[in-house]
Amino acid sequence: MDGTSFDTVKTWVQQAHHIAVLTGAGISAESGVPTFRDAQTGYWAQVSPEDMATEAGFRAHPQRVWDWYQYRRDLLAGVLPNAGHQALAVFQQQHPDRLTLITQNVDGLHQRAGSSAVLCLHGDIFEDRWLEPPRECCRIDHAVPGHPPHCAGCCNRVRPGVVWFGESLPSAKLDAAQCAAERCDVMLVVGTAGAVYPAARLAHVTRAAGGRVAVLNPSPSALDGVAHRVLRGTAASVLPSLLAD
Ligand code: OAD
Repeated sequence: MDGTSFDTVKTWVQQAHHIAVLTGAGISAESGVPTFRDAQTGYWAQVSPEDMATEAGFRAHPQRVWDWYQYRRDLLAGVLPNAGHQALAVFQQQHPDRLTLITQNVDGLHQRAGSSAVLCLHGDIFEDRWLEPPRECCRIDHAVPGHPPHCAGCCNRVRPGVVWFGESLPSAKLDAAQCAAERCDVMLVVGTAGAVYPAARLAHVTRAAGGRVAVLNPSPSALDGVAHRVLRGTAASVLPSLLAD
């Protein structure tokens, strides 16, 4: 990695009143969680997002989709937050109110590392919710177990609480992320290909508002061109020293 860029970004972080961090699947890679778009190892190299991450895909093959999310839940139960997640959590604890953490990840690893008020733009894989608007009889804790579980009263099906393609992001979280992107002095974009909007737009928002943007990624990303500095490294190897006092 270019040491000058690292020093520059570290100075920005130290001088910033407010820092926004946008994370993607890459920050969890060193915990053993596959990313989506990395060649060969990424989920989308094995299954199609149309099949596994759309409402139509779920309606067409509910068992297949449910079982895939169950497989991912089981995988996540066996991994731990890494030094990248931990560095962000420690920084937030040492500098309350200076850091807004925005993530596209649904894996809960930021929260398990100790980060609070994480703006999870794409939901939470461990959450269950109803496919159809719930009726009186729909009680998640009483759902009949199955692949997927369903309501005994009306057969409504349970689906994972993640945001699928074509669905809206949780509006309050997106608004809060947008505000943080506008007001921050520095945005760190960590471990995302920058291919999915509106999350990727946040980096553009910061740049347009006059803030600094730094990308941390071992490989080229779609947001490199928006960044004032690109740090070629991994989250777990760079974030601890970047965020240390
Ligand atoms: P991607 O899989 O698209 O991108 C992961 C990025 O992480 C790539 O740019 C890698 O180069 C980078 N990377 C890999 N290892 C890394 C490491 N150790 N440290 C830092 N970076 C590393 O994942 P996202 O950009 O998060 O949406 O994808 C965005 C959304 O697309 C996801 O939230 C998911 C997916 O479809 C939904 O499921 C709704």
